[in-house]
Amino acid sequence: MASYDDVMSLSVRRGFLWPAAELYGGFGGFYDYGHNGVLLRRRWEDLWTETFLGLSDNYYLIDTTTILPEAALKASGHVDHFTDVLVTCTRCGESYRGDHLLEAATHVEEEGLTPAEIDARIRDLKIRCPNCKGELGPAREFNMMFPLGIGPTAKDRAYLRPETAQGVYLNFKREFEALRRKLPMGLAIVGRAYRNEISPRQGTYRMREFLQAELQIFFDPATFADFVPLDTSAGERIRIAWAAEKNEPTAHEIAAEAVVERGLPSWYVYHLLAVQRFYLAALRIPRDAFRFAELDEKERAFYNKIHFDIQIRQESLGGFREVGGVHYRTDHDLKGHEAGSHTKQAVTFGASKLVPHVLELSFGVDRNVWAVLDLAFAKGDRLVLRLPPRLAPVTVAVFPLVNKAGIPERAESIFASLRKRFTAFYDDSGSIGRRYARMDEIGTPFSVTVDHESLEGNGATVRERDSQKQIRVPEAELADAIAKLLSGETSVVP
Ligand code: GLY
Repeated sequence: MASYDDVMSLSVRRGFLWPAAELYGGFGGFYDYGHNGVLLRRRWEDLWTETFLGLSDNYYLIDTTTILPEAALKASGHVDHFTDVLVTCTRCGESYRGDHLLEAATHVEEEGLTPAEIDARIRDLKIRCPNCKGELGPAREFNMMFPLGIGPTAKDRAYLRPETAQGVYLNFKREFEALRRKLPMGLAIVGRAYRNEISPRQGTYRMREFLQAELQIFFDPATFADFVPLDTSAGERIRIAWAAEKNEPTAHEIAAEAVVERGLPSWYVYHLLAVQRFYLAALRIPRDAFRFAELDEKERAFYNKIHFDIQIRQESLGGFREVGGVHYRTDHDLKGHEAGSHTKQAVTFGASKLVPHVLELSFGVDRNVWAVLDLAFAKGDRLVLRLPPRLAPVTVAVFPLVNKAGIPERAESIFASLRKRFTAFYDDSGSIGRRYARMDEIGTPFSVTVDHESLEGNGATVRERDSQKQIRVPEAELADAIAKLLSGETSVVP
């Protein structure tokens, strides 16, 4: 189990991530990534892209600008509705999110309340400013987008995009034409988004600049289920906390067909299963640390008709926390852009002409990276980051056991050949124990040690990080052996 400080101090010490602009005293809600963090994040993104583009032959990549004109975000509803409730102290001027003030007092989630409701709850609960105990001012809506003025006179108003989704919607018609006019069509994007969070005090969980990975699936509701038939033959169960239970640390294990019987479309349940498989099978998240949490009408984002958060239990953040969401956005966005741009968004597909509906699979990349670090953190008599091997920044380390008698030369030659296929790291400084420990702390799954026996043609040892078990592998077979260990085809532990 890892505390927030455990994960953050390891992240800083081992070059994963840390608060941005520390030289200038920090910059709330902004984080930078070091080499190991960038590699871990990229590997997560690669696995995500491979998994979700793999859902269909008609799913593709897209990339769009991070700045959007005001008209587009007016049409999407963000200018009017992308708000949080702000409460400011009348004495010290400190700003708070209204729901967070209530949550600190009641210890349950208090999402979806209006400013008037928050004012009433603050009065009832007699909440004062947590900073100076002063009286809190009236609650009001605060738009979370960062406004920009474009051009030398800043006359054209724009915003940093608050979600990657909108750029994808603006390009729907172009891509539909370019990609042979088929539905369902998926467009996947990994890119930055920006939100002027009122008080980002929860470290990397609430960032003002962050990465999203989103798959936008455009579909015809009349036929979508035919393209994604829900196969229940394997009896897979979905881990769900219903809206009324979101403050409980539990989840029900519900058969997919039973979720459909509760009224959710089968195509939606199909994607819940796909997302769950990504977490349990590809990312190897323990089953009991994963769940979907249903959001009710008051809680869900203004553009969603069906909204389940994807949550991972993280001790460093105090329990189940959102890392993404499965959002049925209906035709809200394309209809909004049709009205805002006066450009028809309907397309002809088969016998119907329609404005497609959208299912969005949305993931916060930084939140996922943090969750992976939290769950991988293991401290007993040694500190080990038990990352899934495919996510580890370094796949294989190479060590000469001692720096003499021709061993370094042999180790360097093995390193040179392994680094052609894997991210490899060569280390000849300090005791062999220290070198293993350094690799354990960044999650390197395999370490190859070259010793006297290697010089006699007996290969090198391959040590596995978690079990610390070693096997001897002939030098010529090392690269293939590492590839098989990495894919899980073989294991060091019998
Ligand atoms: N695009 C969905 C979200 O930003 O939550």
